[in-house]
Amino acid sequence: MTAPLDPTKLRSRAWFDNPANIDMTALYLERYLNFGLSLDELRSGKPIIGIAQSGSDLSPCNRHHLVLAERVREGVREMGGIVLEFPVHPIQETGKRPTAGLDRNLSYLGLVEVLYGYPLDGVVLTIGCDKTTPAMLMAAATVNIPAIALSVGPMLNGWHKGERTGSGTIVWKARQMLAAGEIDDAEFIRLVASSAPSTGYCNTMGTATTMNSLAEALGMSLPGSAAIPAPYRDRQEVSYLTGKRIVEMVAEDLKPSDILTRDAFHNAIKVNSAIGGSTNAPIHLAAIARHIGVDLPIKDWEEQGHKVPLLVNLQPAGEYLGEDYYRAGGVPAVVNQLMEQGLIAEDALTVNGRTMGDNCRGVAIEDEKVIRPYGAPLKEEAGFIVLSGNLFDAAVMKTSVISPEFRNRYLSNPNDPDAFEGPAVVFDGPEDYHARIDDPATGITPETLLFMRGAGPIGYPGAAEVVNMRPPAYLITEGVHALPCIGDGRQSGTSGSPSILNASPEAAAMGGLALLKTGDRVRVDLGKGTANVLISDAELAERRAALEAAGGYAYPASQTPWQEIQRSVVGQMSTGAILEGAEKYQRIAQT
Ligand code: FES
Ligand code: MG
Repeated sequence: MTAPLDPTKLRSRAWFDNPANIDMTALYLERYLNFGLSLDELRSGKPIIGIAQSGSDLSPCNRHHLVLAERVREGVREMGGIVLEFPVHPIQETGKRPTAGLDRNLSYLGLVEVLYGYPLDGVVLTIGCDKTTPAMLMAAATVNIPAIALSVGPMLNGWHKGERTGSGTIVWKARQMLAAGEIDDAEFIRLVASSAPSTGYCNTMGTATTMNSLAEALGMSLPGSAAIPAPYRDRQEVSYLTGKRIVEMVAEDLKPSDILTRDAFHNAIKVNSAIGGSTNAPIHLAAIARHIGVDLPIKDWEEQGHKVPLLVNLQPAGEYLGEDYYRAGGVPAVVNQLMEQGLIAEDALTVNGRTMGDNCRGVAIEDEKVIRPYGAPLKEEAGFIVLSGNLFDAAVMKTSVISPEFRNRYLSNPNDPDAFEGPAVVFDGPEDYHARIDDPATGITPETLLFMRGAGPIGYPGAAEVVNMRPPAYLITEGVHALPCIGDGRQSGTSGSPSILNASPEAAAMGGLALLKTGDRVRVDLGKGTANVLISDAELAERRAALEAAGGYAYPASQTPWQEIQRSVVGQMSTGAILEGAEKYQRIAQT
């Protein structure tokens, strides 16, 4: 039972009911009265609840939040709150040029200003498409007013000729089919579009399903809510319950800092392994952790997460899609499996005021084809390993997506079973890759290691999802479906290639990748967690001096003011790629 709300503690009183400053109070009131809110509503001690609205026509993945917000309002109203709904900067993962990676920090920045500067006592964060989730959690962490995340939910399952087609995933297969001449352009588009049959975010285990699952695993959304498909009636119901709950959270003064503890992040890392979560998750969790002031070094991903098995059988690693995940039990069923092994910090508090343990204990798997029991996983050791060497200080790799074909080709030396070595072919940004990948003069053979640089937070501002490169068409037709890929960009969460990603520092920050040349031999040892170019330190130092004398690693000019601003302050992916300096503003609503 929630304690009754103490109106004198509401931060919105500083705007709407401040006898010490009646001048400003009158001014604040008159404008919020102008669309029909009554004086009584604004001054009777009711909490003001923001709905941070990420849905719009420009953000199709989150657009359904425009509808769900009505049910949130009803929940807030029922508990005696007043809603002020406002837009947040849209982020459309697939539609934003040059990359939506630029927009996470911009959306964060905008939302911090709104949450801090307006009369809000609590906020509902309408999460969904990839970066909308971390952007909003980062802002809520910084401002630290009571906040609850509401997922928009995944799309319904996609189907084509009787088979499930996953959004963001089918496109990789379709591209290979197109490159091999098996389908024409029209069929290519039909096949890709079949994967998006309804409102909602990607129905695969891409970054959206990952981050919405992790928001729940962190304790920031109601238990069982992350996986509900967008069009389901349960999604409407949980929107209403979320609206009700945020009013109680204001009364309880339950804030992000009470929920986003180190234990909560470690829970989320373990859940990420078990669901087969995206390689973007380490970047986003690092960012949220830094804004709430929790120490979460990149090595925690390997230490906490690598050994956890893959339980969720969703594309791209598995077979099923979002509707199946929900019916099989969603996040609570996964957490319960991990909890039975002692892998979950059960005392971690969640938005409903109860612990993760109390929320998830005993939640059964409803379909073991979709969520496997811990003892019968899809894959062992499904988490990430963290690599380092003379090419970068940190990069991540999901070793569980290594295919048998890839293992046979690169990891079959019995004397050296965890390592592979080969000549590098280096691309400077995605345009260079697209221009040269199929050109035989590029010299790619089945032994080649493909490198993508100039694709990090500075080089390709925001960091592009381009490290997962397909082999040239002439190799695909010969049966080579994947080459090792290494780079300072990101990889789409919906791609299953065994890439070494998020390399930090990036080439544009003069990390070791900037010094690499096509033809250099590179050795990757997955057992030792190393990736090194096999040239001497002296030669590397010479190359560095020469490159610095030439003005450093060259990257394209900024196209917009924000690209220039972000480039001047953004950090590297291993530490969240946040706006460096922003992390010193913490818990600012409390001051
Ligand atoms: Fe928005 Fe996949 S593109 S969720
Ligand atoms: Mg993505």
